[in-house]
Amino acid sequence: MPSILKLDHVDLHLKSEAGSVHILKDVSLDLPASKTVGVMGPSGSGKTTLLMVLGGLEKPTSGTVEVAGTTLGGLSEDALAIFRRDNIGIVFQNFHLIPTMTALENVAIPLEFAGHKDAFKKAAEALAAVGLEARVKHYPGQLSGGEQQRVAIARAFVTTPRLILAD
Ligand SMILES: Nc1ncnc2c1ncn2[C@@H]1O[C@H](COP(=O)(O)OP(=O)(O)O)[C@@H](O)[C@H]1O
Ligand SMILES: [Mg+2]
Repeated sequence: MPSILKLDHVDLHLKSEAGSVHILKDVSLDLPASKTVGVMGPSGSGKTTLLMVLGGLEKPTSGTVEVAGTTLGGLSEDALAIFRRDNIGIVFQNFHLIPTMTALENVAIPLEFAGHKDAFKKAAEALAAVGLEARVKHYPGQLSGGEQQRVAIARAFVTTPRLILAD
């Protein structure tokens, strides 16, 4: 089974005015494609940070991250954004839906970015798949927390990415 995710000796330090935090300490892993893997750990242990590194949204201080055979550190900012768009779907811990867009528009965005012709039709199908066909015209502020989470899940899988990261 080919690897979908490989981390090699990943370290991450973040500096802030409150002080420096060593969040990821020598993390190595190799995960096969077509598997679902859960990461467990207490609050503050670094799960969200790890997902940000896996999704190319946070650069490790040292070590390498490889997604579907591509080393993220070797890509320019633009190439990384395109790689993310084409290969990775992310469900954020606090969803990150765009408040001024309806559920349908939120799910259609990644398809529109990727130049799909049927963005709105596919987005409607994805929302139906998560049981939200009656909420397509609603704005995030008009949805329950669980409904917002389902919109975020639909947005993550609507492009059929190779990797879905769900916080
Ligand atoms: N931008 C940041 N600057 C400094 N420390 C951070 C930053 N983001 C997260 N942290 C710290 O990193 C640790 C891991 O956070 P996080 O990955 O959000 O944990 P989890 O998702 O497991 O609860 C926490 O101690 C948090 O305070
Ligand atoms: Mg978290």
